[in-house]
This record gives sequence, C-alpha cells and structure tokens, in this order.
Amino acid sequence: MNQAVAPDAESGVGTGVGTGVGTGVGTGVGTGAGTGAGPDGGACLREATASDVDRLAELEQASFGAEAWSRRLVFEELTGPHRRYFVAEAGGRVTGYAGLFLGLDSAEVMTVAVDPAWRGRGLGRRLMLALLTEAERAGKRRVMLEVAVGSEAAIGLYRSLGFAQIGRRRGYYQPSGRDALVMRLDLAPAGAAGVQPLM
Ligand SMILES: CC(C)(COP(=O)(O)OP(=O)(O)OC[C@H]1O[C@@H](n2cnc3c(N)ncnc32)[C@H](O)[C@@H]1OP(=O)(O)O)[C@@H](O)C(=O)NCCC(=O)NCCS
Repeated sequence: MNQAVAPDAESGVGTGVGTGVGTGVGTGVGTGAGTGAGPDGGACLREATASDVDRLAELEQASFGAEAWSRRLVFEELTGPHRRYFVAEAGGRVTGYAGLFLGLDSAEVMTVAVDPAWRGRGLGRRLMLALLTEAERAGKRRVMLEVAVGSEAAIGLYRSLGFAQIGRRRGYYQPSGRDALVMRLDLAPAGAAGVQPLM
C-alpha cells in the first residue's frame, strides 16, 4: 500500500536495478466476470467510481487500521488523474478493491485490499491481475509497489505474480514506523504475449 502520498513513479526506487523478474504475468487470468456462486461469491470486477468511496473507506479501516487512508484521500484517489481503481462486487456488495497509478514508463500499485470475510478466495489475485492488465494495456514497462514488512499475505500474493524485492524504505509506514519492501515486476515488451484481457 502506498503511504498516503502521490507517487513519483519516474524518480522512484526502480532505477539501477539489474535484469527484471521476467514476463508472462498473465497466465490463467480468467474472464474477470464471475458467474455462479463460487468461493468468491460469483464476484464481478468493475471499475470503481466516486460513489464507492464510503464502502472503500470502510474496507480501508478493516484492512489497514491506524494506517488506513482517510475517506477524503480515498475520494481523491478515486477521482484523481492517472489512476485506475477496480472493485470486486458480489451480490451488490463491494468485497475488495485495488488501485493503480499510471506514470510515464511505470505503473504503481497504490493499494489492494479484500474484505476480511472474503479473503483466501482468489479475489486479491483477480484484482491484482486487473491492475497488471491495465498497466500492460497502457504500455507501461514495469509495475512497482510498496508493501509493509510482515504483510505476509500481500507479499505472498505479489511474489506469486512475479514481483521481486528491489529495495526497502525504512520507517515508511506511519504511525507504526514499519519498513516498506519495494517490489518490482517487469512487463512483457509491447507485442509480446503477456497479460490476457480481463474485462
Ligand atoms: C493481501 C490480500 C489483498 C490478499 O487477498 P486475498 O483475496 O485473500 O488473496 P487470494 O485469495 O487471491 O490469494 C492469492 C495469493 O496470495 C497469497 N496469499 C493469500 N493469503 C496468504 C496468506 N495468508 N499467507 C501467505 N500468502 C497468502 C498466496 O500466494 C495466494 O495464492 P494461492 O491461493 O494460490 O496460494 C488480503 O490478504 C488483504 O486484504 N490484506 C490486508 C490488506 C493488505 O495488506 N493489502 C496489501 C497492501 S500492500
């Protein structure tokens, strides 16, 4: 999760890194449009709108506690430039969300969170794949993110998608003072096989 500041994707931590962590992030993306009531409740993914702000602020609290974005910041994210936010929705209720910032060459994962009651059912992966699909469609060469040390589920998710740790930001998260791991995924060059269309 990004620590409540607009990212500067071009002057960020991704420079001077050696070879990337590979391409082909998109195998098995699926259709994104859930049918039937599987483990994820038949969730569909759709683009978030400003009207999702209250539910997303609620999920922020449930997922990040003292480090949650305020309602105002959630709103700014949902309506800000160069952002793409998606929600997972089942039975008319939003069960997860994820957001991306599109920089010049890179994209940055701003956040991803799933309702605690709906975790472990594949929604986090689907939301992340929606972001990666979007980054690839927009022609970005890499995707960056920060994740708090100790967020094992998120780190496991990112690693499973091919992200590799390239750095660490000490005391990045406030008020806890936890460090952030900086992770990076290089996307396939334009025209190469990559993320499959999701939505
Ligand atoms: C991280 C988070 C979004 C994952 O969502 P989810 O829907 O539970 O994840 P999925 O069911 O799609 O799991 C996808 C992969 O993530 C990893 N993962 C999920 N839960 C995990 C756990 N408890 N421990 C380790 N790895 C885990 C696994 O690699 C899993 O793949 P697998 O099921 O094939 O093993 C969710 O745990 C969450 O909202 N956490 C709190 C918010 C947060 O930390 N967000 C990240 C901000 S940087």
